[in-house]
Amino acid sequence: MTSEIINIPTHVSIIMDGNGRWAHKKGHKRLFGHNAGVESVRAAVEYAREKGIRYLSLFAFSEENWGRPDEEVSGLMALMAKAVADERATFAKYDIRFRIIGNREQLPEDLVATVEELEAETLSNSSMDLIVMLSYSGRWDILQAASRYGEICANAAREGLPLPYLDQDSFAGLLSTDGIPDPDLIIRTSGEQRISNYMLWQAAYTEFYITEVLWPDFRKNDFDRALVSFNNRQRRFGKLK
Ligand code: FPP
Repeated sequence: MTSEIINIPTHVSIIMDGNGRWAHKKGHKRLFGHNAGVESVRAAVEYAREKGIRYLSLFAFSEENWGRPDEEVSGLMALMAKAVADERATFAKYDIRFRIIGNREQLPEDLVATVEELEAETLSNSSMDLIVMLSYSGRWDILQAASRYGEICANAAREGLPLPYLDQDSFAGLLSTDGIPDPDLIIRTSGEQRISNYMLWQAAYTEFYITEVLWPDFRKNDFDRALVSFNNRQRRFGKLK
């Protein structure tokens, strides 16, 4: 199957869904599914790197997820801190730049400390960027960009300078994904057909691939199917080819 893929997307993003259902099916609590999901994260990172995907972003925790029971939220935060720290050697070996995007103010201090250490350590790695979207939502992103523009305007007005021109490119530069190309492909697992407040601005022309596979079961072959499907799409960006 792999040999059919000619057009490798520059940026692949994954909405990792179905951990809870996977766990329940096996008679376990939801955290059991999140734990198993870490193995799928590892497999996806390695496969993306092997295929030459330049940017891989993973939707790990939405702003809305803060509304889940405390036990699940704190378990997930601890799991993520450990999973990230465990990948230190992988990032070095595969020359991966790691970072998180989202509302850091909401995250536990120890998780932010671990993340920031790894972000600094991997800053100059350049074979692949791994971006974990943590405490992220598309509306939050657009709002923070709009308020930053407001601040820039207020500063300009105070100094008697003209207000900075705003167009799609300059607005995109205020989003939290500044410098990262829009996703070419978004994969969503577990069969849900929703965008769930994810990358609302950035996904304007993204191709979607939805699989019934639950995230803890998602492996290389499933990733490959998504890439083959992407390869067969005709992207017109609203034009006539
Ligand atoms: C969605 O499944 C999944 C999450 C909210 C958490 C995903 C996080 C991980 C797999 C850990 C990632 C770790 C790193 C280092 C990136 P769900 O709980 O909404 O499942 P359900 O729809 O079946 O209830």
